[in-house]
Amino acid sequence: MNTWKKLSNKEIKSRIFGALQQNINFFNAPLLGVPASHLDGKVFYQDAPFLQDAPFLSALIHNPNHIGCHTIGESESFFSGTQELEKEVIKILAEDIFKGKENDQDGYIASGGTEANIQAIWIYRNYFMKKMGASAQEVGIICSEDSHYSFTKAANLLQVQIGQVAVDRNTRSIHDQELQNTIESLKSRGVKYFIGIVNMMTTMFGSVDDVEQFVQHFKTEGVPFKIHVDGAYGGFFYPFSNLENKLNFAHPYISSITLDAHKMLQAPYGTGIFLVKKGMISHTITESAKYVEGLDLTLIGSRSGANAIGVWMILMKYGPFEWYEKIHTLLMRTNWLCGQLKKMGFSFYRHPHGNIVTIKANHLDPKVAQKYSLVPDDHHQPNWYKIVVMDHVTIDKLQEFVEEIQIHATQSA
Ligand SMILES: Cc1ncc(COP(=O)(O)O)c(C=O)c1O
Repeated sequence: MNTWKKLSNKEIKSRIFGALQQNINFFNAPLLGVPASHLDGKVFYQDAPFLQDAPFLSALIHNPNHIGCHTIGESESFFSGTQELEKEVIKILAEDIFKGKENDQDGYIASGGTEANIQAIWIYRNYFMKKMGASAQEVGIICSEDSHYSFTKAANLLQVQIGQVAVDRNTRSIHDQELQNTIESLKSRGVKYFIGIVNMMTTMFGSVDDVEQFVQHFKTEGVPFKIHVDGAYGGFFYPFSNLENKLNFAHPYISSITLDAHKMLQAPYGTGIFLVKKGMISHTITESAKYVEGLDLTLIGSRSGANAIGVWMILMKYGPFEWYEKIHTLLMRTNWLCGQLKKMGFSFYRHPHGNIVTIKANHLDPKVAQKYSLVPDDHHQPNWYKIVVMDHVTIDKLQEFVEEIQIHATQSA
C-alpha cells in the first residue's frame, strides 16, 4: 500500500478543511459568472458551531462541483482543493487495491454503478468505432445472465448488441459451451467487436466470473475484445476476501473496473466509481463542453464533490488493515449463517469468498422472507431469496432469523 494509510480524525479534518479552503469560496470571493453557489443559507445551517467538527457536512454546504475527470488534463480550477482528494481516492483504488501501475489509470466518482458501467461501454463502443471503423451494431456486450441490468440499459442507450450467457443453476458459473453459443449468436447478428463483462460478485448471488474463460474464448475466435469488471457490489469486498484474485489492473486484458462506494463502503448514495487504464477515457470526450475547463469526459456532468470527500474519509478512517478486518468479520458471520443453513438441510448458493447467501425459495415461508426483508430474484415468482451480510446484519439478527425458519421447517416437515 503506497498511498492508502490510516489517518487520525484530526488529520482527516485538517485535510478536508484545508482542501475546502483551496477551493473558491462562494461566501466571500467575487464570483459572478458561475451558475452555482453554496447551499441555500435560509434552509441549511451555514455557521452552526458543530460544523467545525463535521467536515463532510461542511463540504456539503460549501457545495463543490466536481464536474469532469480530474486524473487527466485540466479541470475546473474553482474546486482544485477538493479535486485533489478525489484524485487520491482514484489512486488508492486503482493502484493500492486494484494493482494498477503508478499513474497508469484514470477515473472519477460517478453517480453509481449503473453510470460507471455505461461509461465503460460508451468508451469501448467509441474506441471500436474510432479505431476500427465499427458501426454501433457491430459492437456487442457479452455477459452472464446474472449480470446487472445496467448492461441492458447500456446496450439500449448506446445502440450496441448484447448477449447474455446462461449460467449453471447451482454453481452460477458460465459453461464453455454456453459462452461459445452466445458468441456465435452475436456473430450471426453481425457483431465483430466484443466487450466482455466479468462480474466481481453479482447482485443476486455474489458469484464471480472467470476472466480467463472470456479471454480464451475471444482469443480462440480471433475477435477484437475489451474486458470490463463490474465490481459495483464486490469492489470493496472481494479484493480483501480473496487476496489472490486476478480481477485487477495487473491482468493484461482488464482495462476498466466499476465500484460502488454506496454499497459495501457505506458512503452516501450517489457514489459510484469508474476506473480505467490510461489512454481510454479520451474516447468519450465531449468537445462541445467548451464552458467546462478541461472539457468533459464523463457521462454525468455536474456532480457533488462532497461524495468524493465521503469516500476519501471512509478510506482514511479505516486504513487498509482495519478495512480488511471489517471484511473478515462479515465473512465470519456469513460462515456462521451458512453453517446453520447446512445443518437444517437448506439449499443455498454462496461464493466461498462472498457475503451474500441466496436461499432456494421453497425453503422459506414468504411471510418470513418479507418480515426479514429478504430480496427475491423475481418479485412475482421468487425462486431465490438473498441475505446480504452487511455491517448491520449481526449474528444476533441472523440467529433470530435462523430460529424462525427452523420453527417453520419443523412445522412443515
Ligand atoms: C453488480 C452490480 N452492478 C451494477 C449495479 C448498479 O449499481 P447502482 O444501483 O449503484 O447504479 C449493481 C447494483 O445493485 C450491482 O449489484
